[in-house]
Order: sequence, then structure tokens, then C-alpha cells
Amino acid sequence: MTDEIDGNAVSAQIRSELEASIDQLGESGVTPGLTTVLMSEDNASQTYVSMKQRACENIGIDGQTQELDADQPAEDLFDLIDDLNARSDVHGILVQMPVPDHVDKRRVFRSVDSMKDVDGFHPENVGRLVAGNARYKPCTPHGVQKLLESAGVKTEGKEAVVVGRSDIVGKPMANLFIQKAPGGNATTTLCHSRTTDLAAKTRQADIVVAAAGLPEFIDGSMLSEGTTVIDVGINHVDADNDKGYKLVGDVDFASAKQKADVITPVPGGVGPMTITMLLYNTVKAASLQTDVPVDLP
Ligand code: GUN
Repeated sequence: MTDEIDGNAVSAQIRSELEASIDQLGESGVTPGLTTVLMSEDNASQTYVSMKQRACENIGIDGQTQELDADQPAEDLFDLIDDLNARSDVHGILVQMPVPDHVDKRRVFRSVDSMKDVDGFHPENVGRLVAGNARYKPCTPHGVQKLLESAGVKTEGKEAVVVGRSDIVGKPMANLFIQKAPGGNATTTLCHSRTTDLAAKTRQADIVVAAAGLPEFIDGSMLSEGTTVIDVGINHVDADNDKGYKLVGDVDFASAKQKADVITPVPGGVGPMTITMLLYNTVKAASLQTDVPVDLP
């Protein structure tokens, strides 16, 4: 029997433990604050930002959203980031990606105060992660680690294959897998669009993390029996239903499930974990900036 990981259940468990951490901050008069900045008319980005806002409200984080028009000058965004950096009630700042083409995303990453960088995208935080001294683990790969832990999947000594080299998922995922730490110690291969014979790599894997952004790209024929398959993809594909589209992952679920011992569905797998780990980083950010210690899940 294949074990299908319920990301909603794991997420709910972590969020309930985080409520206790937020209570600890509250005893010292601290309410964690997260401001999300949206500079995009993209529907998916708008949906994600409102989901983040609602998740903050539900758990006791002061969540705020600041919107800029996609055609505003880049300096408006950088001025806003400066203002948020200076505010003591804002512990976390998240600029929703992607930003418009006329905004330099690398400048965005380095403009957010590294202590408030709950995405973990600031070069200082990337450097700390690579050095094995992470401050804020990027949310989606951290969520994948939590899902593996919840399913009892050990990473130590395993062959992990990450498919996709994005700054947001692929690169930090590989960096977490190579850490000398729980959830790490895996022999890690990072595959991408120029990898020759991808299937040969994924067939060697004990754990495959699919994060290429390509619908149903990894199928059962590319996997060996007993693999753990984590699907980070969220792709909209045309469908003959009321909405006109459906969500599919980067994994062809039906054929992959024939081979996998453990698998995550889309939706309901990795998706809920990203916001949960953002809440986690916001609580950690509030604790670090106020010197109020908290226990984190
Ligand atoms: N866009 C898609 N995923 C993310 C994320 O984790 N953080 C930010 N800031 N933007 C995103």
C-alpha cells in the first residue's frame, strides 16, 4: 500500500503547535507581524497573498498586505521596503514573487532586512543556509522536510534527487538535504533542464522532489519501486469542467503511485505546508527581534 501524505493534516498539527509559540510571545506583549507586498496583477499571486493574510489572522499573527500597481516605478517598491524595515511592529516582510520585469528581483532579495526575511532569500540568509547555519529555512523546502519527517521517511544516507533549480525551491531543497542535520545527510543530485537522461537519475533515487514547474513531467516509468515522491508542482491545465482548468502537479500521480511507497497529492500535499512554514518563520523572526524565547515545532 502506498502511503499518501496528508499535507493538510501535517500542516494543521504544526499550526496548532505554533499557536502555543504565539501565546509565549503574547505573554511578553509581543504580537508577531508579517507584511506581504504584492506588485502584480497575476491571479495566482493575488490568491496566494490573500491565503497568507487569512492564515495569519487565523493563528494570531498581525498580517498586513500592501499592494502596488504592476506598472509603478521600482523605487516605490524599494521605498516601501525601507519603511517596513524600519518598523518595529513588522517582524517579517514577504515580497510576493514574481515581481514585474522592470523590478530587479535580486535587489528586492537584498533590500529586505535580513532579520525580517522570512522567505530566506536574502544573500546573507542563503549564505547561512549553505554554510549549515540557517536562520530562516525557505518555506517550501522546509515544508517538504516536515512532510518527510511526518511520514517517517529517513533522509540520512539516502539518494535524494531534486528536479528543478529555482531559487525558491530547487536550490534550497538540495542545500537542506546535504546538511549535516536531521532531515539532511542525503546524497543529493540536483537535476535541471540540461540534465541528460533524467530518468536514469530519478530511477536511482530513494527520494524524488519534483519542482520543475512542468505538468505531470515525472511519471511512474521514471521511478523505481519503493521511492518516496514529493510533488511541489502547482500547474493549471485546461480541463473540461466548470472552471475550465484543473490543478496538477509535476508528477503523473496515477502512474507514480504504482511505484511509490510514499507520495504527496496535488492539491493537499506540499501546498498547505508553504504557508505553514511562513507562519513558523514569522514567529521565529518575532522571537529573534524581541529577544523573547519561544519553543518552535
Ligand atoms: N512565489 C511563489 N512562491 C513564493 C514564495 O515562497 N515566496 C515569495 N515571496 N514568492 C513566491
